[in-house]
Amino acid sequence: MTISARELFSSRIATTLTMIGVAVGLGNVWRFPYMMGQYGGSAFLVVYIVFVLIFAIPAVTAEWSLGRHARHGPIGAMQHAFGPFGRWIGYLLVLTVFIANSYYVVIVGNVAFSAFFAISSGFTPATIPSYEAGLGNGVLQALVSLFVIVAALWVIHRGISKGIEHISKLFVPLFGIMIITLIVMALRLPGAMTALSEFLRPDFSQLTPISLFAALGQAFFSLSLGGTFYLVYGSYLRDDADIPRTALATGLGDASAALLAALFIVPTVLALGLNMQAGPMLIFETLPRMFSEIPAGRVIGAAFLIGLWMMAFLSTVAAFQVIVAALTDSFKVSLTKAALIVGGCEALLMLPSALNPEIIGTLDLIFGSGMQMLGSALTIIALFWGCDKAVAATQIFGAKTDSIRHLYLVWLRWIVPAVLGVMLVLYIADSMRGML
Ligand code: ALA
Repeated sequence: MTISARELFSSRIATTLTMIGVAVGLGNVWRFPYMMGQYGGSAFLVVYIVFVLIFAIPAVTAEWSLGRHARHGPIGAMQHAFGPFGRWIGYLLVLTVFIANSYYVVIVGNVAFSAFFAISSGFTPATIPSYEAGLGNGVLQALVSLFVIVAALWVIHRGISKGIEHISKLFVPLFGIMIITLIVMALRLPGAMTALSEFLRPDFSQLTPISLFAALGQAFFSLSLGGTFYLVYGSYLRDDADIPRTALATGLGDASAALLAALFIVPTVLALGLNMQAGPMLIFETLPRMFSEIPAGRVIGAAFLIGLWMMAFLSTVAAFQVIVAALTDSFKVSLTKAALIVGGCEALLMLPSALNPEIIGTLDLIFGSGMQMLGSALTIIALFWGCDKAVAATQIFGAKTDSIRHLYLVWLRWIVPAVLGVMLVLYIADSMRGML
């Protein structure tokens, strides 16, 4: 596809909302609160925010720059940077998204099922057992996941502006309004304010090396980094789009969504005496019990789950866009044919996770956390070494140069990939020791 034939984002606000839509998802609402509960409470939160600012947002600027420079997703961009061998890196990254998305659609399907359940039956102590039976029903989970796949591909088929931008402009502000309303309601529960202010007092002695790794992994997962989503979405950026400013707005928007979700979940869970350290099942086990106990729990539960579904859906749309664009850009397959092929393959790939959800944790460890750091480090290397540091400078800052910008480029070129590399090695060593 030539540059002129490629559809680009239409306006600055649509670009920012779309980029925030890609980032905000299960990572903010499902992963962040439980990680905070497990890895050091508000001390984890402080480290996470610092890592977003100094590592993740710079990595976003690199991924968008490579995408915009190459006007291709991972396969074409890596080939552009490294020659024919680069295609294989691209294939690996696309395969990673294919697999990561195979369990992500199942969780998005779980959220859809939970939202539907909240609306139709409401969570009450009497209905919880049938809700849990539904969650454990593999065939039902496969069917709702199939619904998510078809809906996501339908949006992609409508194109960038009529599909992806359109629903992002609707879903992102709606989610914001919904979550702020929920926070106000949560903070009015008896004891919620006291529990929250205690939780928010950082105790840095709770931090361990694993907390640092978890915070960095969370920053990269949540911002959809990994040389995939943002590489493709960067390829739709206009030439005059201000990359640093949009990256800052996206990074802060994403971190704010995580904070807002935590501000709703933490005080409510603590005020009801439930366990913040419930781990990955916090949302699916603890929250429905919470909704069954609080006043207007049915309405609050339904609103929360619909909001979460909308944002998680935007992230899964982005994952499909990476794979579909790989076929349309690099193999010249038509959009319709690409959507059908990708939908068919993903429908088969999601079956193991739908039928046997126990494997999701392991898949997430490899394809959700580890590969995202590797992919992002490879993208920075591709931009600065495979292309050229002058390309990086021009894409990120245009013609402007000064010592601060120079320092930023040095940081992004050397320190960010080095830190990612070290963390990755520690992560693999720890995984092998079975400590994570
Ligand atoms: N960034 C996406 C999320 O947080 C993948 O769910």
